[in-house]
Amino acid sequence: MELFDVIAARHSYRGAYLPEPVPHSDLQRIMEAGLAAPSGCNKQTTLLTAVETPELIDKIFEIMELPFCQTAPALICVTTKRIIAYKDGWGRERSYQVQDYAAAIENMLLAITALGYASCWIEGHITDADEQDKQIAALLEIPADERAVCILPVGRPADAMNAVKKQPFSARARFR
Ligand SMILES: Cc1cc2nc3c(=O)[nH]c(=O)nc-3n(C[C@H](O)[C@H](O)[C@H](O)COP(=O)(O)O)c2cc1C
Repeated sequence: MELFDVIAARHSYRGAYLPEPVPHSDLQRIMEAGLAAPSGCNKQTTLLTAVETPELIDKIFEIMELPFCQTAPALICVTTKRIIAYKDGWGRERSYQVQDYAAAIENMLLAITALGYASCWIEGHITDADEQDKQIAALLEIPADERAVCILPVGRPADAMNAVKKQPFSARARFR
């Protein structure tokens, strides 16, 4: 697919998935696209764990108590490490970890779309007070200095993709 077609075709998918495994090589391509994203001061604070084992996928969806996406045949867990990019003029330590993982996630969503799969950026409750991030990290044996921030289901969609309504271009973009 041409890049602008991929961007237009990407939507958050919350329907059922077909019971087809995602080849390991496709998961690797998707993760490579994520890790190719820019990162502040090139600190590369984003780390990725692909989950292909059905029992682990089921447990993650149990932890997250999600009413959708449970039929995804694979998922990618996005974790982040607080690496200091620089100290500002007041000596405050700055990390770009949130911007870094957001860029990596968008690259992966586009790669997922380009390969004909569907996904959804699921971050909402992971870092909330119920500490799903810690349960997911324990399950996936994520190193202690990383924090789980997002789950991306990956699979072939069984249902149609719905596009949400976006504001018109002129309401959100300007030329001067
Ligand atoms: C930071 C962030 C967190 C999100 N968390 C969730 C989530 O927890 N659950 C969910 O269903 N969608 C989540 N989304 C997806 C948004 O709801 C979705 O992108 C938005 O409604 C626009 O729809 P679109 O992705 O189809 O353009 C998240 C998106 C972003 C950027």
